[in-house]
Amino acid sequence: MRFLSSVGLPCHPWMATVILPLLLLLVPLTAAQMWPSCGESGDYESKSTYEANLRLLSSTLPKKAASSTTLFATDTVGNVPNVIFALALCRGDTNSSACEGCLVTAFQDGQEHCTNNKDAAVYYDSNPCMLRFSNQNFLATTVNEHILVIGSIESLMNFPKLLLFTLLNSTAQSAVNSSRRFTTSRLDVSSFPTLYCLMQCTPDLTADDCAACLRPYNQYTLKYMDGKKGGRVLGTRCTMRYETFPFFQGDPMLRIINLATEVPPNNNTMPIITANPAPQSQSPVEAPPPPEAQATIQELHGHNSRKRALWIITVAALLLSIFLCIICFVVWMRRRRKGRKRTHWLGDWNRRVRSSFCLTCLRYYMLHTTSPKKTYLGKVVLALSTR
Ligand SMILES: *[C@@H]1O[C@H](CO)[C@@H](O)[C@H](O)[C@H]1NC(C)=O
Ligand SMILES: *[C@@H]1O[C@H](CO)[C@@H](O)[C@H](O)[C@H]1NC(C)=O
Ligand SMILES: *[C@@H]1O[C@H](CO)[C@@H](O)[C@H](O)[C@H]1NC(C)=O
Ligand SMILES: *[C@@H]1O[C@H](CO)[C@@H](O)[C@H](O)[C@H]1NC(C)=O
Repeated sequence: MRFLSSVGLPCHPWMATVILPLLLLLVPLTAAQMWPSCGESGDYESKSTYEANLRLLSSTLPKKAASSTTLFATDTVGNVPNVIFALALCRGDTNSSACEGCLVTAFQDGQEHCTNNKDAAVYYDSNPCMLRFSNQNFLATTVNEHILVIGSIESLMNFPKLLLFTLLNSTAQSAVNSSRRFTTSRLDVSSFPTLYCLMQCTPDLTADDCAACLRPYNQYTLKYMDGKKGGRVLGTRCTMRYETFPFFQGDPMLRIINLATEVPPNNNTMPIITANPAPQSQSPVEAPPPPEAQATIQELHGHNSRKRALWIITVAALLLSIFLCIICFVVWMRRRRKGRKRTHWLGDWNRRVRSSFCLTCLRYYMLHTTSPKKTYLGKVVLALSTR
């Protein structure tokens, strides 16, 4: 209200109850997009021991990961058949507090988007963490699962494949060689856009395991994201992302100077990924569930179009706020002109009903705009999965 009166708008106080929710509406829209991957090993029941164990994990694992120097933690809670295995990893360029906050959210998102699923992985667009929990002991192996391949729909025309290969190969080599299994890099070749890349393995992998995890990523990228402006491959054991803009904190850890001599031929023994366009309502996790070698590939709107969408929504919400402001003003003026006669209990009641009606509409609108489906908006254009 202070803001409103300071700009001299003659608004009635109850209008704040209309305008503030509208502004709040913008908050979830700026929240990070998430990519859940729900498993196939069954559901737990509400109020079950499994759920209690999951709650216990969600209260301990984020702290445990955030307090480790590598921002990584695994944990096991409970006994068969209610045992849960979990793995949490934050990006190497984030800090402990952001890591903990991200993982707390990831537990909530995992349970919300993979409702009652015993096995779920959660990845984010810009939040700096990933999480997986499962009733299967995936911690006993280094097998990479819940793989998602996500490419920008914006193209990078005539971009030499050799540059992309150089970026991927050099970054992978450096990540594999680093003690944290994490590297950010930059490849700057005159007359081509600068490329930025980030690769990370869970730090418990050996260098060989990390290399084995990233090798197929490079091939997925060369095969499915050739000519794309950016993309990422996400998995429970390693992740890769590249863009034409810097998306990580700090300076690149690696500046790539030497170009590779040639692009090696594609390895045809890597898991085959075939195209099957998914309907808008279908999330990637509902794709056919082949085991292990499963990968899902999607395209998403690029950085700019998401920004544009946010802009449009912001402007629309502001216009709507102003429109409501004017209506409220008119109503208020009319009421005032009619004099003080009507401000007895009936007028009061009348006003209260009107404002609560307004709030009800808004609450309905907010509920629906913050629903999980919203996070899929502008996301899945094409989903591909193994057979
Ligand atoms: C941690 O990172 C977040 C997000 O980048 C930042 O806002 C915050 O200030 C950082 N906290 C510390 C203690 O550095
Ligand atoms: C980089 O490329 C070379 C030549 O193809 C290959 O021997 C090496 O294993 C690659 N490194 C990684 C980390 O992919
Ligand atoms: C691996 O790291 C060591 C030091 O940590 C460095 O001396 C070596 O050159 C690195 N190797 C590669 C291939 O980057
Ligand atoms: C090709 O990919 C398969 C499966 O990812 C792997 O086992 C094999 O070592 C790869 N071969 C080469 C030459 O990279």
